[in-house]
Amino acid sequence: MSVKEIFETMEYGPAPESAAEALAWLVDQGDRFGHFIDGAFTAPGDGFESRNPATGEVLATLTQATQDDVDAAVAAARAAQGKWARLGGKGRARYLYALARLLQKHARLFAVLETLDNGKPIRESRDIDLPLAARHFYHHAGFAQLMESELPDREPLGVCGQIVPWNFPLLMLAWKIAPALAMGNTVVLKPAEWTSLTALLFADICRQAGLPKGVVNIVTGDGAVGEMLVASDVDKIAFTGSTEVGRRIREATAGSGKALTLELGGKSPYIVFEDADLDSAVEGLVDAIWLNGGQVCCAGSRLLVQEGIAGRFHDKLRARMDKLRVGDPLDKCIDVGAIVDPVQKARITAMVEANDEGETYRAGACPEGCFYPPTLISGLSPASALMQDEIFGPVLVSASFRTPAEAEQMANNTRYGLAASVWSENINVALDIAPKLAAGVIWINGSNMFDAAAPFGGLRESGFGREGGWEGLSAYTRAAAKPKPLKPVAAFAGDETEPQPVDRTAKLYIGGKQARPDGGYARTIYDKRGKLIGQAPIASRKDIRNAVEAARGADGWAGATAHNRAQVIYYIGENLSARAEEFAATIDRMTGGRSGAKEVAAAVDRLFTYAAWADKLDGRVAPVPMRGAALAMRAPCGVIGAFCPDELPLLGLVSLMAPAIAMGNRVVLAASEPFPLAATDFYQVLDTSDVPGGVVNILTGSHAELAPTLASHMDVDAVWSFSGTDLSAVIERGAAGNLKRSWVNNGLARDWMGAGGEGRAFLDAATEVKTVWIPWGA
Ligand code: NAI
Repeated sequence: MSVKEIFETMEYGPAPESAAEALAWLVDQGDRFGHFIDGAFTAPGDGFESRNPATGEVLATLTQATQDDVDAAVAAARAAQGKWARLGGKGRARYLYALARLLQKHARLFAVLETLDNGKPIRESRDIDLPLAARHFYHHAGFAQLMESELPDREPLGVCGQIVPWNFPLLMLAWKIAPALAMGNTVVLKPAEWTSLTALLFADICRQAGLPKGVVNIVTGDGAVGEMLVASDVDKIAFTGSTEVGRRIREATAGSGKALTLELGGKSPYIVFEDADLDSAVEGLVDAIWLNGGQVCCAGSRLLVQEGIAGRFHDKLRARMDKLRVGDPLDKCIDVGAIVDPVQKARITAMVEANDEGETYRAGACPEGCFYPPTLISGLSPASALMQDEIFGPVLVSASFRTPAEAEQMANNTRYGLAASVWSENINVALDIAPKLAAGVIWINGSNMFDAAAPFGGLRESGFGREGGWEGLSAYTRAAAKPKPLKPVAAFAGDETEPQPVDRTAKLYIGGKQARPDGGYARTIYDKRGKLIGQAPIASRKDIRNAVEAARGADGWAGATAHNRAQVIYYIGENLSARAEEFAATIDRMTGGRSGAKEVAAAVDRLFTYAAWADKLDGRVAPVPMRGAALAMRAPCGVIGAFCPDELPLLGLVSLMAPAIAMGNRVVLAASEPFPLAATDFYQVLDTSDVPGGVVNILTGSHAELAPTLASHMDVDAVWSFSGTDLSAVIERGAAGNLKRSWVNNGLARDWMGAGGEGRAFLDAATEVKTVWIPWGA
């Protein structure tokens, strides 16, 4: 097309980016790749082809890793880790900085290779993926520099296994590798089988940066290789990908002691209020759902638009869709590129074809091949499959709402909780709804904004853990303390056949009331000499369900002011203090010890500590490169189920209850199994301390029997276990169902009397970080 013709028609001329250098790099490597292990590429082995989805051409042949390859990579990472950690944060910072510089230096090559391999428009790989990946390394070079001074009590986890998806191959690599290396870990990363090439180019960059051998290892292959990595001798698995695979990884790592973070799918709402700037909201929607052809975990794929403007907004949207250009991803004027693989295109097509509801609008021209047209499906009912299931393609579904309350209800009507966008010119409307949305990231008047300084990650079935910001670092470090193995504590036995006068039969504590156990059974508690002290009920599955229901119903607690929550916790402390002698005597009798008084004093003190924290755990304002602010706010998890330690029956219970309720959660506590009577006496303290019914629920009974039900309960948001019975495996496996957070002791002891029994770790476990992006200005 000539310039004259372009001016006459106002058509875009072709503006192709040259693939020559990227293709030449592939040729230089012999078009065949092995793995990158211990600082060198292995000889290529049996494998599979990596294709350009836009043309179907083979780009290179990759090697499917064997068990030996995975073992060799993990062994190399293990061997390198000690020295890498000992290099110190400042030493590691230099390498991260060098990697950032090299990414920038080779940005064009990386961007073109990414587009060839993945099919995303060059405009995106050039202007989004590459700058963000480089920024991640720069930012984490800074964290490495500051680690010793700012995180003096933390140490690296060791070797991290990292599995990344195909939608942001290099960017997800950067999100995984940069924090791991900064904190002194070494890594074995597995890229997705469709898109491994930029990871292999990155391996080359590691060599150029002189990164010590074994610090970064890359093995290629499909899900089977991922499974091998998950099962290997690593200390952590960091996974980004589908919820289905994330759930399998949760099950596979249950009880292994491996740390785990999961960044999974989503069905993120995009809410447009009638007072929104509609043209901006349409433009934002283009970024939300057509960035990377909608193959984005946090894509704004569910449009919710206020009824009064729905018609006008849809008209504007359809007009804008008609202008989107779908085609050759290497063309700089292309908006929507290729779908990553024909398999994925078939998946999208099948999901859309299975739908017979609503109205489907497809934007104009779409080339033959592995492309899918931008599509809008409106007028769907909330329960329709396309409103609930992740399509992971350029398909937007839409529905309308009448009031902000209805918007909130519809937005949260999903099993996911990754991201949300809110559009309104009214600050009250926007900031009122943002914290109420079940999402880890909320963009006000924007979408798909990311930055290394801002924590990113989900709630519910979108996974757990954060990447980016200070919060992201905790996932790559652990407390430097060396815990000892847990010693089980046995209850004292007595003669059950001898009839004894029953002086007390305790009950359960559910919904602010004492309740008989559903099964009607109780266990006799004896003192050291075998004399009866009392009876503790044996809770069953039904009692757990009742307790969870009561806890769910007490959701007003999350809305109480932090000041009010503090007052209630101080009051519990005061009332416990008033009955200190009585509690100390029961504890001494039950445990056969003499430190009851000390324990009660420590429990009162702990209550005061968390009353103090209730209104002091603040969030952050992340310094993102934007006019505006990204608020990393702390929100309660919801309903937390917790198994209390065997020893220190009162202090253990208080140490779990107090941080949880201080942060606005409701709890279902399973009291110390051998010594439950301090908990049953504690009901009266709660009753006299203005604790709203349902905020604290206490069960007694067998931890091993209660654990599977509590861990797998779909209305529980987090489960903790510090039980003397090691429940780690059962809890983590049960938690896979709704992907609730879990915090388990892995059979290790904790110093409940000392610093190990309180502090930040408890507050972090009791809260979720929600990042709210608030751009301002015109
Ligand atoms: P996937 O979850 O299977 O793949 C992601 C990564 O996990 C790849 O590296 C893959 O090789 C690896 N993997 C697969 N099975 C594994 C296993 N059993 N153990 C360990 N690693 C394993 O995603 P897939 O099949 O490529 O896409 C399916 C759907 O998942 C998409 O349609 C989309 O809905 C969703 N998805 C979500 C992503 C996100 O960022 N949230 C990214 C990719 C896919």
